[in-house]
Amino acid sequence: MPTSLFSPLLVGALTLNNRIIMAPLTRMRAMQPGDIPAAMAVTYYQQRATAGLLISEASQVSPQGKGYMATPGIYSTEQVVGWRQITDAVHAAGGKIAIQLWHVGRVSHHSLQPDQGLPVSASALAYVNKTTIMGKDGQPERVACDTPRELRADEIPMLIDSYRHATMMAREAGFDMVEVHAAHGYLLHQFQSAESNHRQDAWGGSLENRARLTLEVLDAVIASWDPQHVGIRISPLGKFNGLDDRAGEAMGLYLAEQFQQRQIAYLHLSEPDWAGGPELSNEFRQHLRLRFKGVLIGAGNYTREKAERLLNDGLIDAAAFGRPFIANPDLVRRLAESAPLNPPRPELFYGGDEEGYTDYPFLT
Ligand code: PHB
Repeated sequence: MPTSLFSPLLVGALTLNNRIIMAPLTRMRAMQPGDIPAAMAVTYYQQRATAGLLISEASQVSPQGKGYMATPGIYSTEQVVGWRQITDAVHAAGGKIAIQLWHVGRVSHHSLQPDQGLPVSASALAYVNKTTIMGKDGQPERVACDTPRELRADEIPMLIDSYRHATMMAREAGFDMVEVHAAHGYLLHQFQSAESNHRQDAWGGSLENRARLTLEVLDAVIASWDPQHVGIRISPLGKFNGLDDRAGEAMGLYLAEQFQQRQIAYLHLSEPDWAGGPELSNEFRQHLRLRFKGVLIGAGNYTREKAERLLNDGLIDAAAFGRPFIANPDLVRRLAESAPLNPPRPELFYGGDEEGYTDYPFLT
């Protein structure tokens, strides 16, 4: 019998009602000052609680981890109070929710940083692109990212500690799990990639050294909870935020082996085609599968058909949907009934209010 997308799935300590995951989605609507989840986010997440698992928008583990205007944090008491309302609402609706722990590294701008300092990265190498800051009148404004400063070796313990602290805050806020964001050209990926990491100490050079920070962070998160409540997201292949990592395959497979040793609950693979790249090869999927035996979640331009094909080929256990979940709070039902999907409104993805956020219609 083929495995159904609509069948339950054991993920670490949780049993999910189905294998349709809401992908982490940046929406830039946190309350200011303080980067506190807003009341409208309670409605937004609760509307989508029929997903097997909701993964929250990426949330900075410290003020330094912020790279875009109005993204929420998970380090202050006020943020925990805001998130608690969201996790309570999701649980009341029968759902489960993980929070994605984020540090952007060099994808930032001094106006978003504590004391207007420079963003940090593995090396002082620029990401030649733009990010979104709070411009005049609080309106989003696109600006070039700053050339970062290299994180000093003596700052790394504090950085790792910010993930430990964020994990404790996530537990207090009532999340069911945490997901470490180690993808998409953000800080941990900046360390993984030889393109952005020119360090000559224990965190640079060899593949093992470049993977070190990701694994140290993961170990700190596991130590603050347990591996059954921890997942991680990587994007070893494909282009995003200035990284086009030719050696990504080797790094992806090495990391998968390391994740297996730590027995974490899931590996969330962000596939290149979500950002316009080619579809991942079955060969790479098979290699990854051999190394990591836990739950594998695929993400990247998924449709019901793509998800069922990969599920039945045994190459994934669950599929994450992003843009379709923005536009369809009842995506699970729509996929089950092969109902038409509401089209997303990309101009309302980032910033703003309820429009394009909580007002997408349900099936009647
Ligand atoms: C974004 O804000 O566009 C964004 C944030 C986090 C990601 C990917 C994209 O992992």
